[in-house]
Amino acid sequence: MSTRWNGKSRAKGSRTVGVTTGSGDARWLAAAARLAGRARPLSSPNPAVGCIVVREGRVVGRGWTAAGGRPHAEAAALAMAGDAARGATVYVTLEPCAHRSHRGPACADILAEAAPARVIVGVADPDPRTASAGLDRLRAAGIEVVLADCATCADSLRGYLVRANTGRPHVTLKFAASLDGCIALPDGTSRWITGPEARAHVHARRARADAILVGGGTWRADAPGLDVRLPGLGDRSPERYVLTRGAAPAGTRAIAEPPAISAMEGVQYIYIEGGAETAAAFLAADLVDRIEIYRAPIIVGDGLRAVGALGLNDLVNAHGRWQQVEDAQLGSDHFAAYRRTREGAV
Ligand SMILES: NC(=O)c1ccc[n+]([C@@H]2O[C@H](COP(=O)([O-])OP(=O)(O)OC[C@H]3O[C@@H](n4cnc5c(N)ncnc54)[C@H](OP(=O)(O)O)[C@@H]3O)[C@@H](O)[C@H]2O)c1
Repeated sequence: MSTRWNGKSRAKGSRTVGVTTGSGDARWLAAAARLAGRARPLSSPNPAVGCIVVREGRVVGRGWTAAGGRPHAEAAALAMAGDAARGATVYVTLEPCAHRSHRGPACADILAEAAPARVIVGVADPDPRTASAGLDRLRAAGIEVVLADCATCADSLRGYLVRANTGRPHVTLKFAASLDGCIALPDGTSRWITGPEARAHVHARRARADAILVGGGTWRADAPGLDVRLPGLGDRSPERYVLTRGAAPAGTRAIAEPPAISAMEGVQYIYIEGGAETAAAFLAADLVDRIEIYRAPIIVGDGLRAVGALGLNDLVNAHGRWQQVEDAQLGSDHFAAYRRTREGAV
């Protein structure tokens, strides 16, 4: 699915009200966004959506997009709520779909039939089959609709929104580095820089990606498994890709240049695990949306730097591009995540 939808076409004529941070509505939306996390990445190529039905302060229904994309979150939450949905408030992270498919009815229609009093929507859907039509159909059914422009919901939908607005998947670049920014010894050895807690964290992150990618150099040096080795998640290993100008190594698919990620069928989230030249290639092409760094309390000195040559000649150009969004201690290692700050980005 390399379709590019113009995000600007979204929700024409619809009212964006916003919900106050910390308000009841904002908290329920945040809870729906956390539920949506259960659908990632199994819902691909459909968006991972979360939905909660609340009546008199109690949750009477909840759902998230099922593996393969159906049933949708709203359908699951309304099925659980049954008659209790009538007059209730529905919180849903993404605008309910307005298009019927052979796989099921439009969520806007089943919501209209369930007749909640209010529907609070996290973010508008850029899919032209739904954009604003989902909200309009609910309003036409006499339901109060609030489009909240919820940042937490947008975060939970990054892969879908980046795909819709740019035509390529969301890209996370990860590396494990020493305090002095090295990812390997001078001889290329990089096992093991971080401890078991950080490595388990990496495996959990892999399980949230549709695709995992390393450079040809890393593939040849480390022969990495790139799989998910966590109890119960063994079947969640992402599809393996190698950035190479040559042929795909056995068991992988080749990507000949960074922009070719747009052609990855059905992929919303890519997790890149190095090495330095690959990191530089994606950063130079401005194709990295998120950086995740595991920093071990060791000094390597004369080792391989985390990122290869970028041709930067003015530090001014390096500032203002990354904003820290996560921070945690994992055993003896430190984890931090940074989001690319792009003006007007989703
Ligand atoms: N600590 C960590 O987090 C970590 C993670 C990963 C790797 N490492 C270490 O990093 C080292 C490897 O890093 P590296 O920088 O030498 O190699 P690398 O980035 O893994 O791979 C370089 C290769 O990627 C391909 N490539 C790079 N740019 C390209 C482009 N623009 N278009 C097409 N293909 C491109 C080429 O593959 P072909 O030659 O096949 O054409 C190139 O030789 C190893 O020592 C490994 O242990 C550490």
